[in-house]
Parts: sequence; C-alpha cells; structure tokens
Amino acid sequence: MKLLVLGRGKTGALVAEVAQRRGHQVEVLRAAENIHAAALTPQRLAPLEVVIDFTTPHAVLENIEVCVHARKNMVVGTTGWYGELPRVRRMVEDAAAGFLYGANFSRGVNLFFDAARMAAAALRRGYSGRIFERHHAHKKDAPSGTAGQLQRMVREVSGAELEITSFREGDVVGMHELVLDSPADTIYLCHDAKSRLGFAEGAVRAAEWLAGKTGFFDFRDVWREL
Ligand SMILES: NC(=O)c1ccc[n+]([C@@H]2O[C@H](COP(=O)([O-])OP(=O)(O)OC[C@H]3O[C@@H](n4cnc5c(N)ncnc54)[C@H](OP(=O)(O)O)[C@@H]3O)[C@@H](O)[C@H]2O)c1
Repeated sequence: MKLLVLGRGKTGALVAEVAQRRGHQVEVLRAAENIHAAALTPQRLAPLEVVIDFTTPHAVLENIEVCVHARKNMVVGTTGWYGELPRVRRMVEDAAAGFLYGANFSRGVNLFFDAARMAAAALRRGYSGRIFERHHAHKKDAPSGTAGQLQRMVREVSGAELEITSFREGDVVGMHELVLDSPADTIYLCHDAKSRLGFAEGAVRAAEWLAGKTGFFDFRDVWREL
C-alpha cells in the first residue's frame, strides 16, 4: 500500500519503519512540512490508501478535517482530542470515509483492558479503585488516552468513577495500573510497555485492515481481527 505517516516523532518514526518492513511505500511528514495541514493537498492524498496520524492534540484535528473531507481513510493514534469525537464521527459518516482511532494500539493493552473489565466487578463487591499512569516527561497530554479509556470502561461495567493519578518522569514508555482495594486485600493489574513497537505494529495492521473500508471504528472493537 501507499501510506502517509503524519508525525516523525517517537511513535510516527517507528510506524514508518514497521510499515516499510511490511512491504508498504511510506512517506512521512513532520510539523514544519505540514503547518495547518497545508501539505495534505488533493494531489498528495490521491494516490494514498491510508493516512496514519501520530502528531499532537493541536495538529490532529486539522489533519482529520482535511483527510476526511477528501474521503481519505485515516488511522489516528494521536490522543488528547476525544472531546471532539462526536463531531468527527458525524464528519466521517457524512463523507462516507473510513476512520479508525485508538488510545492504544498494542495488543497487550487490549488484553489488559479485558482483564480490567472482569476485575472491575470487585467495585460492586465492596472494593474501591484507583487508576495510575506513568509516562515520559515529554508527553503533552494528561491523563493519558489509555487511562481515560480504562476509566470509561470501568464506569460502564461498575458505575464507579475512578480517580486517575498521572506521573510524568524520565523515559517511561507507558505504564497503566488499576488498583482495587478492600479491607481484606488489594488487587493490582498492571500493563508496562517495554517499547513503542507494539503501538507501531498495531497501527500498521490497523491501516492494512482499514484499506478500502468505510465507517467509524474504535481499535478496541477490531483489534482481534488484525
Ligand atoms: N494510540 C497509540 O497506541 C499511541 C501510542 C503512542 C503514542 N500515542 C499518541 O501519539 C501522539 C504522538 O506521540 P509521540 O510519542 O510520537 O510524540 P512525539 O514524539 O512528540 O511526536 C509528535 C510528532 O508530531 C509532529 N507534528 C506535530 N504537528 C504536525 C503536523 N501538523 N504534521 C505532521 N507532523 C506533526 C512533531 O513534529 P516535529 O518533531 O517536527 O515538531 C513530532 O515529531 C501522542 O498524542 C501520543 O499520546 C498513541
């Protein structure tokens, strides 16, 4: 496939590398080459199957608007914009484009979510809960999109609204913990990413899956099919 990766940061650069390894033709744009999405011209977008975005919460919405209006399928890994999800969903449906987003493209985290959903039943049996997340000092948004997703999932299953505590330190790739506490014991569930490879592989597989499809998809609903 012909892919365009937006963002040559820590994750975007690895996404491009993984996509090339999987036999795709990849172009990458960084911030200075795409101010206010100006590089996303009809000519540049026309030959592409999918655009993959790993940029910033400030840049991503302009990128989404231009790609969706051009009916170009898009995989968005960038977090920090989910307040706009209903508007983006309407935009995608009106344009009949293909769009897949996810706070966390790693299979391990999605398995962790399954375990968390099951364990959250404890909150209806006298346990209290907290969510902790740790990331590198340069991460721009807090709490992380993954922690927010975990919080929403726990609320859906148990009705409880858990507090999220965020730590920003050193080079931590991404650690998420769900801690459930009772007078008798404590349950700890933890996912600790060792590298960004899991995110990058998930994003490229998501792009392969999305090519030629229309619709609005959340990675957590489709990751088992990738
Ligand atoms: N869904 C997932 O699985 C997952 C996994 C990891 C990260 N993320 C999210 O992905 C995003 C990026 O994370 P990261 O760790 O890779 O951050 P990062 O290292 O700071 O990279 C962000 C990159 O975006 C570039 N950029 C900013 N505006 C742009 C634009 N208009 N066009 C093209 N590129 C632009 C920046 O370019 P310059 O360097 O030129 O300024 C920078 O290289 C964050 O929101 C993070 O939370 C999601």
